[in-house]
Amino acid sequence: MNDTLLKLTALLNDGEYHDGTSIGTALQMTRAGVWKLIKKLEQYEIPLTSVKGKGYRLDAPLILLDPQKIKNLLDTEIVDIEVLEKVDSTNQYLKRYLLDNKDIRVCIAEMQSQGRGRLNRQWHSPFGQNIYLSLLYPFQKDISELSGLSLVIALALCHAIETVIGQKEKMGIKWPNDMVVATQKIAGILIEIQAESNGFCQTIIGIGVNVNMREADDDKITQAWSSLQQLSGTYIDRNAVCAELIHQILLYLERFSSFGLSPFITEWQQRDILYKQPVTLISGNQSYSGIGQGIDTHGHLLLKMADGSIQSFSSGDTTLKKG
Ligand code: BTN
Repeated sequence: MNDTLLKLTALLNDGEYHDGTSIGTALQMTRAGVWKLIKKLEQYEIPLTSVKGKGYRLDAPLILLDPQKIKNLLDTEIVDIEVLEKVDSTNQYLKRYLLDNKDIRVCIAEMQSQGRGRLNRQWHSPFGQNIYLSLLYPFQKDISELSGLSLVIALALCHAIETVIGQKEKMGIKWPNDMVVATQKIAGILIEIQAESNGFCQTIIGIGVNVNMREADDDKITQAWSSLQQLSGTYIDRNAVCAELIHQILLYLERFSSFGLSPFITEWQQRDILYKQPVTLISGNQSYSGIGQGIDTHGHLLLKMADGSIQSFSSGDTTLKKG
């Protein structure tokens, strides 16, 4: 992460005009250097006004991700946290650590050029607005024991988000792991697993959270969405959200590692928006309709079909049928 960019946005974040000379003095750089940084903000589509004789001003608050701030808030040494200005995908980035590393590692980016969602969808990842975070986490488990992992991560995310923005809005989960408030998507999870020998697995847990995403970007997303800023009515410092996310995810993962999915079933029931609702599930090129009946011990979705039978589904995309 570019340290001078962090300092520049911190300086401009008061909403006042700052001229090139005073910025240069504060950041100890030439006016040409300042100009290059301003150009960079413009390339990243940060709303900015520049007025001759007055200088530059941010049109909206902007607090960039600061690895030191996140580490201070987290107060743990067990994870290695890296913050990148721009990357293809944070999941992809962590793959370079798969082979030789059994440590827990986090990568967060201000922007992704090829952010990916489930079912190979694109994940819209504009600069400085949201959270794109991936966590490399090793398990001393067989891959077959990880089927509930993404559900547990969704629960951890809901808990973390409610801790940060308060419980004004109850976060729900649409199986398998879309975090929603009243069917508007707030966050999504993409997990990639590499099974190794001797019952050992490496997982890359990718999380995208809509935090301060602007309305102007609406046309780039196909699903109905909301953001933490919209829910809380205020601009959110993503550093605090990242720290709480990592904290909760590590706690939930520790419990999942030791006890599997069973300790989480009650919590799932409280967040399951499909329960007793008419649901359509698309799996491959098949479509199924039924009434949501929660999950089984593997985290598979249970649907009551028209003939009264209960069927379980291990994967797919769900929608709530409008009544
Ligand atoms: C979904 O489709 O709901 C899953 C979205 C997952 C997006 C995150 S952003 C960080 C990580 N990097 C990616 O390319 N995808 C995940």
